Amino acid sequence: MKHPIILDTDPGIDDAVAMIVLHHFRKTNIRLIVAGYGNIKAEQTVKNALLMCDLLSMDTPVLKGAVVPQYGSYEDAAHIHGADGLGGMSLGTSKKQPLASSDFLKTLYDTIIEAGTVDYITLGPLTNLALLLKRYPDVRSHIARVVTMGGGIACGNVTPHAEFNIHCDAESADEVFASGLPIALVPLDTTNHVTFSMEQIESLSSVKTPLACLMQKILEENYKNCTRYGEEGSTMHDSTAVLYYLFPEYFKTEQCGITVDSQKYYGKTIVTKERNHVTLIKGAESQTLCDLILSCITSEGR
Ligand code: RIB
Ligand code: CA
Repeated sequence: MKHPIILDTDPGIDDAVAMIVLHHFRKTNIRLIVAGYGNIKAEQTVKNALLMCDLLSMDTPVLKGAVVPQYGSYEDAAHIHGADGLGGMSLGTSKKQPLASSDFLKTLYDTIIEAGTVDYITLGPLTNLALLLKRYPDVRSHIARVVTMGGGIACGNVTPHAEFNIHCDAESADEVFASGLPIALVPLDTTNHVTFSMEQIESLSSVKTPLACLMQKILEENYKNCTRYGEEGSTMHDSTAVLYYLFPEYFKTEQCGITVDSQKYYGKTIVTKERNHVTLIKGAESQTLCDLILSCITSEGR
């Protein structure tokens, strides 16, 4: 059953690639894009989501989400994604506007209720989803499943214990995992190995489309930033989560519960066997995923 999709994202370079992948396989199912704070401030993630919709000729509405975590401040990831969140390419501004809304949670809730049942994919902090569940508890029965890029069981990328999306708002993440919703968690332990080499990025130069040309420049910048911070290449964290949603057969999983530390090791995701509503991704066919992502970039935007 292909449910309408809510894409909760903070574009961000790997989010932008994940939008290309999701659009390639499910263009008609993406009901709403919620762009909030995360890799860069919310005003910019909204602009970047609208620009990606232009590049993909997508008319999916974009809604501005939370601009700060529930309980404090956060540090962005401009050092990886560039000052504008898309590698500093100065792409200008879309002619489209985000959804007019004085209350993004009400707009998000109404969209889900109107859709009946949705699949909810999160590629950034879990603040939007936590706030939605808190204000509208009945919405749980309208969310078939959640797929989340986040966490790290044996590793982190903000601290040795915490991954960025979770570290932005550990309290919200813990509330979402405690909600009992069926969640698939795609952590760094898997996504860190889904990386583009510079040779793979440069192979895009043979594809004469504006999208491939732009993505090659953005990914080259991302490759430099990611490897500067010890990653294996241009890491496609968010596309890995989207590809799990689309092709779970390429992944290994186990059932468990997840709790999130907001005290000693802020943002640490901890496996607990006391519950089993979380599908924890344990590994993937990384090169198969990289080939799939590249094929989406080369075939879109023609
Ligand atoms: O830790 C990686 C995650 O944080 C990805 O979603 C990336 O876009 C950033 O949001
Ligand atoms: Ca992201």
